[in-house]
Amino acid sequence: MITLVTGGAGYIGSHMVRALLRAGRRVVVLDNLSTGHRRALPPDAAFVEADVRDTAAVTALLQEHDVDAVLHFAGLIEVGASVRDPIGYWSTNFGGTLSLLGAMEASGVKRIVFSSTCAVYGEPGVVPIVESCPRRPISPYGRSKLACEHALADVAAADPAFCAVALRYFNVAGAAADGSVGEDHQPETHLIPRVLNAARDGGGITIFGTDFPTPDGTCVRDYVHVEDLCAAHLAALDRLTPGLAAFNLGIGRGFSVREVIDTARAVTGRAIEASAGPRRAGDPPRLFADPTRARELLGWSPRAVELEPIIASAWRWTRQVSS
Ligand code: UFG
Repeated sequence: MITLVTGGAGYIGSHMVRALLRAGRRVVVLDNLSTGHRRALPPDAAFVEADVRDTAAVTALLQEHDVDAVLHFAGLIEVGASVRDPIGYWSTNFGGTLSLLGAMEASGVKRIVFSSTCAVYGEPGVVPIVESCPRRPISPYGRSKLACEHALADVAAADPAFCAVALRYFNVAGAAADGSVGEDHQPETHLIPRVLNAARDGGGITIFGTDFPTPDGTCVRDYVHVEDLCAAHLAALDRLTPGLAAFNLGIGRGFSVREVIDTARAVTGRAIEASAGPRRAGDPPRLFADPTRARELLGWSPRAVELEPIIASAWRWTRQVSS
């Protein structure tokens, strides 16, 4: 039996492909290479270049490769870009998921792990965030992912054998311990790679807002190591049961933007220049997970629970790729 990884040439997907292969599973990747990289794929994973919205291509892949489970990473991930391009986000994220579900139905594949996001919660009234917290996304990105969760729940309600898990990621960061893959977005918008690019290339970093109601005035986020995140997917895959279950994947602690920059200075030994800028639209002040459910039901505990190992692994990766 083979696991399909959609978006397997992307940042998280490419780490996941390696984790699956290490766990002794066979893998086929579907990716349209719009943001992913062919070089991020290991030779022992089969690869089909196609768009997840191409239902016929996905159906053919599922049948030819005898797929029994799907990890669905393919999607667009930037909150700001989703505000500027809502149709693109709805088409890729929601349209892509519907297409995949149609192909799965046509092929009799009934097991899926879906990449969701803490953006489905919007601006939560309380932190840490538990899965039962109201889901009121504030961006097209968050709404497109929440719509996918609803679609999965409806499909599971209609088919008693359909097994789905939605994993709601907090801020995923870091790189593979063996240096084979890491974060490589073009353009890069995420804090940790931007800070490390500034450490490598100079140019400094702008802090988006220093007047938030947080201890040092900068936004607080829950950073989870990409390899820990992959371990949670393996656990979810092993424990899929009928219905839709949702889990928060974060370490359960928040770190401020200033703490990220200070840790990056300590890890890199470089003086990274930081300047205060205006707030970025739509940034909630504090987001961090209550990951109790994932611990209790998936047996998942992240190994990296401090910023230092996450940033250190990302720095090893950043130094080896050219600017
Ligand atoms: N930040 C800066 N300067 C930068 C880049 C980011 O100060 O140059 C700040 C942001 O304003 C934010 C924090 O660093 O306060 C983290 O920003 P990221 O862009 O790294 O991550 P986000 O929290 O915005 O986004 C993440 C995921 C999204 C997900 C979102 C949910 O990347 O996929 O969390 O809120 F939807």
